[in-house]
Amino acid sequence: MSPFPQYRPRRLRINSTLRRMVRETKLSASDFVYPLFVCHGEGVKREIPSMPGNFHWSIDLLAKEAAEIAALGIPGVVLFGLPASKDPVGQENFASQGVIQQAIRAVKEDVPDLLVITDICLCEYTSHGHCGLIKGQEWGDPDVLHQSLGLPEGYVLNDETLEILAEVAVSHAEAGADIVAPSGMIDGMVGAMRSALDAAGYAHIAILSYAAKYASSFYGPFRDACQSPPQFGDRRSHQMDPPNAREALREVALDIEEGADIVMVKPALPYLDVIRRVRDTFDYPVAAYSVSGEYAMIKAAAQRGWINERGVAMEALTSIKRAGADVILTYWAKDAARWLREDA
Ligand code: PBG
Repeated sequence: MSPFPQYRPRRLRINSTLRRMVRETKLSASDFVYPLFVCHGEGVKREIPSMPGNFHWSIDLLAKEAAEIAALGIPGVVLFGLPASKDPVGQENFASQGVIQQAIRAVKEDVPDLLVITDICLCEYTSHGHCGLIKGQEWGDPDVLHQSLGLPEGYVLNDETLEILAEVAVSHAEAGADIVAPSGMIDGMVGAMRSALDAAGYAHIAILSYAAKYASSFYGPFRDACQSPPQFGDRRSHQMDPPNAREALREVALDIEEGADIVMVKPALPYLDVIRRVRDTFDYPVAAYSVSGEYAMIKAAAQRGWINERGVAMEALTSIKRAGADVILTYWAKDAARWLREDA
């Protein structure tokens, strides 16, 4: 009698071919969506300091980059815009010649098969850096009104903001976006966008909702990249409180009721448990956004020689898929697609 049971797990780990055959989670380039930051100007390819390997692109250089992304087998990009100027409402967000509207057209014209997903929020476009309208700011008198309503500083008005989000969604659809992705955590944002899209003849355009988006410190490098930090206050009165997981299920349920086609959890690595719970509870495609801070901290440690970037990044991305994500938004999309090719 052997001193331990006959099942020897190591039998299936003995060489790489066997490990490959019994592997439970297999990443592929089809899992990824690559975020792109678009700016005005010409010939601009400017590296984002806190996100090495990621750039601000001007519209004229975008099609070439999009073609490269598509050639790697990555199905889609998510676009973020840096407007020419900001104001309290964020006019460029829904302007037909806005930076994103031009970018959508540039990509769809040259690389029609690459899915263009657009992030929809106000924070990159507003002078105050908030994700919606701030009481009083439209009239240049910030404090008086919201104080009189007893609202905290920087409180984002909910229903007034919905109208703008709906208008932005329609303007992105008009420009040719395949999927719109509301990211502001404003109550009712999915429903408002769904009705507006349907009314404008865009019932076929899907909504990827940032359904469970946490008020996370991991967004720091992104806010540098978009010059979009809130000028006062913070985002904790609309983004979710990090300790809450059950609440994420309520958020996701609401967004599905309102018409979301894909639901997203964000960030990814510190919220793998939430991804898993959403996956197990809902029968919808689940996306996860591996955010700027997740990328930056691994990148920085790798640059110091403290960890191996490729190994850690692939392990992190695999963990996000293993947790239940069908789609992963990641700044490693291009690198990871290349690494997967090398391994094949
Ligand atoms: C909002 C938005 C943010 C991110 C994606 N969409 C910033 C925020 O909520 O402050 C963060 C993405 C990242 O950190 O990679 N437009």
